[in-house]
Amino acid sequence: MSSRYDTDYSKMHFETRAVKAGEGPDPVTKALNTPIYETSTYGYETAEQYDEMLALGAQWAPDLYIYSRTTNPTTNALEKKVMALENAEDAVICACGMAAISNALLANLDAGDHVICSDDTFMCTSSMFADILPAKGIETSRVEILELSNIEKEIRPNTKVIYLEALSNPQLKLADIPAIAKIAHDHGCKFIVDNTFLSPCVMRPLDWGADIVVHSGTKYYVGHGDALCGIVAGSKKDIDRVRYYYDNFGSHISPFNAWLALRSVRTMPLRVHKQSENAMTLAKWFEQRPEVDFVTYPGLESHGQHKLAEKIFVNGNFGGMLCVHLKGGHEEMCRFADATKIPPIATSLGDVVTLMFPKTAYNNLIRISVGCEDVNDLIADFEQAFEQMKQ
Ligand SMILES: Cc1ncc(COP(=O)(O)O)c(C=O)c1O
Repeated sequence: MSSRYDTDYSKMHFETRAVKAGEGPDPVTKALNTPIYETSTYGYETAEQYDEMLALGAQWAPDLYIYSRTTNPTTNALEKKVMALENAEDAVICACGMAAISNALLANLDAGDHVICSDDTFMCTSSMFADILPAKGIETSRVEILELSNIEKEIRPNTKVIYLEALSNPQLKLADIPAIAKIAHDHGCKFIVDNTFLSPCVMRPLDWGADIVVHSGTKYYVGHGDALCGIVAGSKKDIDRVRYYYDNFGSHISPFNAWLALRSVRTMPLRVHKQSENAMTLAKWFEQRPEVDFVTYPGLESHGQHKLAEKIFVNGNFGGMLCVHLKGGHEEMCRFADATKIPPIATSLGDVVTLMFPKTAYNNLIRISVGCEDVNDLIADFEQAFEQMKQ
């Protein structure tokens, strides 16, 4: 008999998918909210039944549980929700973003292969390309990807992967995902996109031709600064291969953190919409301040790839990440940041709380991850910080 809980939400609107996909009453207790399955293993009735499960397990069949390093019902519910939001056939949830990135890369690169990576990436991703992959016999090139011919020029017969951050950390360069997907596929390469800075509420790389999308789910997916999480999503074939690495490397998330993420994803569209609205207001406000040299935000017409953002972003969202560069130098950056009262000075991003990361190493850039506070309070705080900076 078909059940009201078997409804396929994958064709419904994004907000509905965020709330409903992947979840339903627990098959045993009927608990409506997905339970936290804190179990390492699962008990079977007979040796024969167990043999059958092992054979199916080796094919990564869904909803099949043998051992929680490989699969867990709480994590599985989160995988299904992520698939619905990323428009992916399959997804793997890892312990953190770097676990997601390393699994996606190592599942697609062997010794003797070559990978092209954009020149502006998160620090640990940069270490992967500078040290870790070359030490394992994988050639790497870093290129400025805003000029597409730079990528084409770097392609070699052994190039297997093009990797980049859709909106880069920290300089907020927006990659032309559809054009780079075409270059990758014309040359038989996999195209892997880290979409941490945007989230699927702003842009979905798989819709624009990327093969695999990765996230630090720690950021917008979790959104409350309380759990680490990593996401890899793509076709069933690509994800089967990633899952083989994930299982053997032991990159799984804990069921509790998967549950925290599952709970948070339901409000991700609401949070990101509010963060985008706040970020747009703040970006425009900073841009007209006399103390500011320049503001980088993809929603501003002054952003070099604003037209591209209008083309590939969805729901009128331009995301919550902006960078402000003050006139003056290191002293002004520190005086301004120290004088603010609302945003903590902290790493990470995507939280409901506004976070500020002053970056001496990037020519005194101030990276702001805009939260869900009332934007008038943020403006008042930044205004008084400018006054104090000048005293
Ligand atoms: C763009 C990007 N990718 C990946 C990561 C790594 O994520 P995690 O800290 O969850 O391992 C980060 C962390 O800040 C990031 O900014």
